[in-house]
Amino acid sequence: MINIFVSGSPFLKPFFLKTPTSVVSPLQQRRHTLPASEFRNLTPQDAISVFEIEREAFVSVSGECPLTLDEVLNFLSQCPELSLGWFEEGQLVAFIIGSGWNKERLSQEAMTLHVPDTPTVHIHVLSVHRHCRQQGKGSIVLWRYLQHLRCMPGLRRALLICEDFLVPFYRKAGFKEKGPSAITVSNMHFQEMEYTLGGQAYARRNSGC
Ligand SMILES: CC(C)(COP(=O)(O)OP(=O)(O)OC[C@H]1O[C@@H](n2cnc3c(N)ncnc32)[C@H](O)[C@@H]1OP(=O)(O)O)[C@@H](O)C(=O)NCCC(=O)NCCS
Repeated sequence: MINIFVSGSPFLKPFFLKTPTSVVSPLQQRRHTLPASEFRNLTPQDAISVFEIEREAFVSVSGECPLTLDEVLNFLSQCPELSLGWFEEGQLVAFIIGSGWNKERLSQEAMTLHVPDTPTVHIHVLSVHRHCRQQGKGSIVLWRYLQHLRCMPGLRRALLICEDFLVPFYRKAGFKEKGPSAITVSNMHFQEMEYTLGGQAYARRNSGC
């Protein structure tokens, strides 16, 4: 289990999502510096950076990206609140894109659809810039994202599909296996995994939501 109580851990930093078009204070303008580290929802303007990381991560490995550039743009327009980007000095280093889903299990249709006002989030993609992998960033951005979802009223669970080798990664983050997924992409098979967000009133009260 991840120890989130280590002093100085990034897990302990206060979690305030900034609005994408935040108002810049005069002090910030004078400094001309970008925040060292910032978590915020993505916007359609971030789609190119997202897609570059995604393309590098997936095309060389499987020849397929989970989301095309058009799909990234669609989801970041329709449900930006279900995305999260981690920026270091203005550069995107890791991100997650999700959308709403309304059935017990994910089906092929879920790959391109956002169903609004549902208790289930489908996590389409989590990706870390290749220069930043194996440093704990994937786990941290996922933890922050799940914290963010917990703060959103009405959400009860998150679903995703992944290849077998990533099952331990998601299990460590608290996901449970639901069994083989019905979804296939270019003959690739996946496990479906679920994270329960509900029933954590204490965590919510103390999480800065
Ligand atoms: C998968 C990914 C998001 C993990 O992010 P990361 O920042 O590299 O992962 P972390 O440093 O937080 O590692 C957490 C654990 O996962 C394991 N892990 C990470 N990538 C792995 C991989 N490709 N295969 C097997 N295990 C992996 C690490 O070994 C580590 O385990 P440990 O704590 O026991 O050492 C990142 O490698 C990535 O972007 N990969 C390409 C895109 C992808 O496959 N995305 C997931 C499907 S949508």
